[in-house]
Amino acid sequence: MTLTFSINDSQRLHLQPLQMPTRLLLGPGPSNAHPAVLQAMNTPPVGHLDPTFLGLMDEIRSLLRYVWQTENLTTIAVSGTGTAAMEAAIANAVEPGDVVLIGVNGYFGHRLVDMAGRYGAEVQAIHKPWGQVFSLAELRTALETHRPTVLALVNAETSTGARQPLEGVGDLCREFGSLLLVDTVTSLGGVPLFLDDWGVDLAYSCSQKGLGCSPGASPLTLSARAMEKVEQRKTRVANWYLDITLLEKYWGPDRVYHHTAPINLYYGLREALRLIAEEGLATCWQRHQQTAEYFWEQLADLGLTLHVEKAFRLPTLTTVCIPEGVDGKAIARQLLNEHNIEIGGGLGELAGRVWRVGLMGYNSQRESVDRLIHALKEVLPIQ
Ligand SMILES: Cc1ncc(COP(=O)(O)O)c(C=O)c1O
Repeated sequence: MTLTFSINDSQRLHLQPLQMPTRLLLGPGPSNAHPAVLQAMNTPPVGHLDPTFLGLMDEIRSLLRYVWQTENLTTIAVSGTGTAAMEAAIANAVEPGDVVLIGVNGYFGHRLVDMAGRYGAEVQAIHKPWGQVFSLAELRTALETHRPTVLALVNAETSTGARQPLEGVGDLCREFGSLLLVDTVTSLGGVPLFLDDWGVDLAYSCSQKGLGCSPGASPLTLSARAMEKVEQRKTRVANWYLDITLLEKYWGPDRVYHHTAPINLYYGLREALRLIAEEGLATCWQRHQQTAEYFWEQLADLGLTLHVEKAFRLPTLTTVCIPEGVDGKAIARQLLNEHNIEIGGGLGELAGRVWRVGLMGYNSQRESVDRLIHALKEVLPIQ
């Protein structure tokens, strides 16, 4: 049989077994997975309906409830990255014509606006400059004006480094009959979260940041109130793959095949969550805070300033202002090429104005900071 497309001898000779550089990933994500997580992912897979795998899924569910501080029965990992979990939250909570109020103070708020619109929502957006957050009074006014079915907020805006406080927002949402949907992609595992105490109805996250795993198995949780809304839908969820009712038939007691789970990623996620439980969630949050504060002190010594005021600064993601006259992209390239350290550049409004440095999960340790500061001292033209 003649192949239409073939690889010639010279190409074949150049194909080597996979070899990739070892980088210190201090950008907005992914972060380096914990070595024990990489080892767990290297375990030979079992089948996705194997009783031992189903037991592992149950462990993932209860560990996710722990890291989110929720008792939500509907708590799963979506097979896909954080965006898939974001889409699952929107696709299930929103029906065509629903009013969805979205707080936009960075890139991911815009993504929520785009997504909710695609599911037929009547989107109402409120805006804040990138790096600032919404006050309870501002949220109250917006809820009063728009009376939305869903209020969506980004708890940790990775594009700005700002932490949106959530205390009291759930009570406000109850007052106006709205569901509270929260993006915790850059907070889960690294920033205190109390979903039940704060009255959060839907939340999603990712595996590759504060949890210290590889990307591809993304936490999603829905409260009983959110599930009531799902059950009362007049229209079917427009996304088959992300329909929570179908997914629950696999994750719940029915154990019905839905899709082939990415087995090894779930091994990794389970190990990452186990490590957090072993460390203790409160200690893990504290480690993130202490590492970030150590980093901020070192940056101040270098004469560098930060974009977000301290009260709302995320410990997981710091936006560092690029000094006048410095080529931010060139510095990031040098860090990568000469020091094997990845940091991120600014997005949207902050493009060219900030570097984004992530200290998340396994990477949230003083050694990461020391390596980066040492490298910055070598590549920065002004100090
Ligand atoms: C706040 C926020 N939401 C959503 C996402 C999307 O997640 P992913 O890139 O894993 O699809 C990201 C990614 O960095 C994020 O930072």
